[in-house]
Order: sequence, then C-alpha cells, then structure tokens
Amino acid sequence: MNCLSPSILSADFSRLGEQIRELDEAGAQYVHIDVMDGMFVPSISFGLPVIRSIRPCTDRIFDVHLMIEEPGRYIEDFVGAGADLITVHAESCKHLDRTIASIKERGILAGVALNPATPLQTVEYVLEKVDMVLIMTVNPGFGGQKFIPYTLQKVRDLKKMIDARGLKTDIEVDGGVNLSNVEEIMSAGANIIVAGSAVFNGDVAENTQMFLDILNS
Ligand code: DX5
Ligand code: ZN
Repeated sequence: MNCLSPSILSADFSRLGEQIRELDEAGAQYVHIDVMDGMFVPSISFGLPVIRSIRPCTDRIFDVHLMIEEPGRYIEDFVGAGADLITVHAESCKHLDRTIASIKERGILAGVALNPATPLQTVEYVLEKVDMVLIMTVNPGFGGQKFIPYTLQKVRDLKKMIDARGLKTDIEVDGGVNLSNVEEIMSAGANIIVAGSAVFNGDVAENTQMFLDILNS
C-alpha cells in the first residue's frame, strides 16, 4: 500500500496540533517526525516533549526519523513518547543490529535510513530484521532541499534486493519530493512518501489530497 507521511518539520509550529489534525482529516496515513540533534546533522529540531504533546492529536502512525548520534540511547524514550515506527540512520549507530533489536523488542516498527552516499550493502544483512528502509533523497538536516537524482537508482536497486528475497519491506523516500516527481519515485519502488515543504507550503489539506490522489491512482 502507498502511504503519505507529511513531515511536520515544515509545519507552522505555533499551530502544530491544528495542522496535524488537518493532515489526519485529509487522509495522510503517517506523520513524519524529524528529530535532529545538531551533531549527526547540522540542525536542531525538536524532541520528546513535542512528540508527547502532539500524540493525542491523531491516531495516525507516528513515523519518527531519528537524525541523532547513537539513537540506541533513546529508543525507550521515543517509544514512551508515542512512536509507532522508529527509523535510525545506519551511519549513526555503532551497533546497528543491536539498535534494531531494541526497537523491535518494544513491539513497534523499525526502519533503517541511509544517507544519499551510503551504499545499499549497509543494510544487506539486516534487511530481514527491519520493516522499512528509508532512502534519503537529500542530505539530511533541512526541509526544502532539491531531490538528488542518483538516489532514484538506489530505490530501484533496493526494490530489486527486497523482491529477490521475497520480502515485503517498505521503502520510504525522504527529501525533495513534490507533486511533479512523486510518480517517478513510486515507479522506482518507493511506497511510503515523505513530503514536508510540498505539503505545508500553501493549503495543507489541498496538498495532502493531491498527493493522495497520485498515491492511490
Ligand atoms: C530532512 C528531513 C526531511 C524533510 C523533508 O533532513 O529528514 O523529512 O523534512 O522536507 P522536504 O520534503 O521539504 O524536502
Ligand atoms: Zn525525515
């Protein structure tokens, strides 16, 4: 199934609850929550208290994208705050296998993210253990960047790897996705689509609906 995961990094934080309810009503299945620590990526975004306070606004899947060093230290906290899916970067974990296991042990979904330049082979041995692989299609750290074209081939190669093993692993793409390139990205094999600026710049409900029309066509 194709799902939309709007990134609240581009939301108006003064009206965050309201905007999440708007996404929910418009039919977005996930809420993409970008946590940044100023170390793994240059920016600092928001963390646990914000996730806790928006949890009552919706029952949609909280798709927590941890762009932090050694995320294994905080898995329990993010599960407690309301995460349904936690994605960690392979580049930020000294013991990726252990961190994935610690997410799964807590009964929620686990994802691994790869920066644009990180080879796909990094997930080769853990593919069976994760529910989702997130292919970064920009360098993580900021919303509103331009999609990096070579990542499209990476999505295709990942899809091949998943199909060859008979797996059902979700492929999420994140960064520079808009209404003009989303179809091509889906044809490459992605089924969970993150969009930040393309959803929040302008009318949130209308933009969500336009994405969902393409995702469902
Ligand atoms: C980038 C974040 C993305 C970001 C996407 O580091 O992981 O989720 O919010 O924003 P857009 O869709 O504007 O590129
Ligand atoms: Zn993200």
